[in-house]
Amino acid sequence: MKTISTTRLIVGASALFFSLMVYAESGKLLITPPAEGSVSVEQGLQAWQRVYEVTSHPRCANCHVGKENIPMWSGPSYGKTRPHGMNIHADETRIGAKTLLCSTCHLTSENLETANHAPPQYGIAWSLAPVEFQWFGKSSKEICEQLKDSKRNGGRESYLQIAEHLQHDASLKGPVLWGWNPGGNRESAPYTLQKHIDDVLNWGVAGSPCPEK
Ligand code: HEC
Ligand code: HEC
Repeated sequence: MKTISTTRLIVGASALFFSLMVYAESGKLLITPPAEGSVSVEQGLQAWQRVYEVTSHPRCANCHVGKENIPMWSGPSYGKTRPHGMNIHADETRIGAKTLLCSTCHLTSENLETANHAPPQYGIAWSLAPVEFQWFGKSSKEICEQLKDSKRNGGRESYLQIAEHLQHDASLKGPVLWGWNPGGNRESAPYTLQKHIDDVLNWGVAGSPCPEK
């Protein structure tokens, strides 16, 4: 009897310890959806507009590109919008496995801050997003419809799982956290990461409405 309860105590304590660790690393990002029925379609569309401003922002869209498999350089710090310099091609592996791996220059490092024009880095291996998550060049309506379609969003059945992806990726110091801490003279994604998570939740609770275009 005594051994069982001690084991349970240890298991319970370590589960608590690990969840606290993840909580601390993700910078206290919270997933607190508003009550069902408390967000109107109008408010949901306003929240979506802000989600679109983030997903179409260069810090996110430069990696969420289509089947050409070429990362983009866009946004004020790059001057004009153009494909990644130096003939970089990610091929269908999305990590440049057939020519030059992205990670050759984009190091895996928990230190997100890099100087102007140095290759940005973050806490996991650098890679283009899967091709079905293309945002670059797509309209607000297109991104909206794709983000709520589990066949095109990585099998995520609900907006809650999108929010969980954002929280989890940030806990790994991945691209999501980097988008708001890009270093150098790169422009951050708009609003804050917590605000972005809240907007995804508000949009979802409103029934995930999409704009007309
Ligand atoms: C360096 C490349 C890169 C950048 C920059 C990037 N992402 Fe991603 N993104 C990825 C990869 C790789 C995946 C697939 C990872 C996975 O599914 O676990 C992904 C997947 C996602 C997904 C889940 C896909 C979906 O359609 O459901 C979301 C949401 C997302 N990213 C949000 C963002 C946001 C917001 C930003 C900007 C703040 C951003 N990403 C910037 C590479 C990137
Ligand atoms: C030879 C080195 C090198 C390789 C290999 C490389 N990059 Fe880059 N990348 C850079 C540099 C340098 C910058 C920043 C340029 C600047 O700020 O002017 C950059 C910037 C980027 C950006 C823009 C980030 C932003 O600020 O929005 C993306 C996206 C990107 N790289 C994706 C990739 C992907 C995906 C791969 C692999 C297929 C890759 N890169 C391979 C050197 C490299």
